[in-house]
Amino acid sequence: MAGGERIDPWSSEQSQDYARITEQFGLGSVDLSELPNPGMLHRRGIVFAHRDLDVVLGCMSRNEPFGVLTGLMPSGRMHLGHSMVIDQVRWFQEQGADITVTVADLEALATRGTSLKEGRTTAIEEYVHNYAALGLDPDSTDVYFQSSRPAVQRLAFTLGRRTNLSEFEAIYGFSGETNLAHVQAPLVQVGDIIHPQLDDFGGLRPIVVPVGIDQDPHLRLTRGIAGKTHWFNVKPRKEGGLTVALSVQEDNQQALGMHDGKVDATARAELFERMSGALAPLGFADTIANPSYGTLDIPGATIDDRARVRMRMLSLEREMGGMGLMPPCSTYHRFAVGMTGDKMSSSQPETTIFMDESIEEMERKVKRSYSGGQQTVEEHRRLGGDCSKDVAFQYLQFFFERDDKALSEIRMEYESGRMLAGEIKQVCIDRATEWLLELAERRDMWADRLDEFLADDAL
Ligand code: TRP
Repeated sequence: MAGGERIDPWSSEQSQDYARITEQFGLGSVDLSELPNPGMLHRRGIVFAHRDLDVVLGCMSRNEPFGVLTGLMPSGRMHLGHSMVIDQVRWFQEQGADITVTVADLEALATRGTSLKEGRTTAIEEYVHNYAALGLDPDSTDVYFQSSRPAVQRLAFTLGRRTNLSEFEAIYGFSGETNLAHVQAPLVQVGDIIHPQLDDFGGLRPIVVPVGIDQDPHLRLTRGIAGKTHWFNVKPRKEGGLTVALSVQEDNQQALGMHDGKVDATARAELFERMSGALAPLGFADTIANPSYGTLDIPGATIDDRARVRMRMLSLEREMGGMGLMPPCSTYHRFAVGMTGDKMSSSQPETTIFMDESIEEMERKVKRSYSGGQQTVEEHRRLGGDCSKDVAFQYLQFFFERDDKALSEIRMEYESGRMLAGEIKQVCIDRATEWLLELAERRDMWADRLDEFLADDAL
């Protein structure tokens, strides 16, 4: 990939150059003013980028259905880093989304050798239990296992036809030595991300996937594959408006009015009737049809209409026998620093706080955490603390202090030098204590009710 970096979803090293990633991979920036009731992570710029989030925001504002798909690796213990996605999932749920949670037990089996049995126990006791405590509503949450949802695996095979090893090399940097588990796992993940829009799992609607930036390669892959299946492409029209263009492929020639490699005028005319019919409910005053060329122009449409036009065409595609798959939307959050100043990772317990950490352990870790304070008290009073490096401040910002005003007061006190490094650590310990105790209490509340989160095929 010329001049660019690659994101490796399996690596423990992750670039923190978010501006560069946003630019290189063409992500959208999150515009706070467009979000209804922005959550804490939005207000603090921690959710920094997205793909097609406007599609989901459109659903929210029109009260149309949309879903969230999120996934977990059933290995290791759940820690603070994992809770960030759940914060976003809960926000989407509050805005009306239904939630599907993938337990990536096949991926854990393939890439880490975790048995399915072990994966199941970890997923439920460690992750689902904490998701419940963090406030997901079981009424609109369905947790499933990759290994027991054939529809997901079927999609992995079907959609595997739309990609090849060269694309995997470009996206993931695979080579001849790459273990095939790393080829299988992303294909199953494509199935995870796509399947909630199948008729058996809620039907055609936008699906948003909130993730850390490390998972973006999977989203690029999925979006590319979904695009390749489309029978109708909806693109901006040069002279203004939108154009719907037929995408004739091996398996849809007849449906799209082709016969022996030539346009069948009668069949094509009928198709265009159906296309106009599909668009009629959107109420565009005029359309310009060019059946033999395979395009339908909608001069009066704006780019904001694109998602709705696309939905209508996908729905028509389904009626006609195609898959009709919406490319997934996504949001990306920054990673919190590890407590030692390095990357946060569950394999290095000193870098993070686990969801069921004892107060003593948490206190010990915060006290030893990387500080943005100055060398001496005198210097600190003069120069102030550096919030951009201080773990205690950042953990208040990412996790423990939900009140924006309180947080900005802490920042002012610390940066001015009035608050010392030891003091900000104590504030962090106090808030974290409340946070952990409340979470533990809520875990107790849910302990006997975790089945409510499991989908029928997961029971
Ligand atoms: N690959 C993800 C991880 O390593 C787990 C996962 C599987 C996932 N399917 C997903 C995440 C779908 C988000 C969406 O953590």
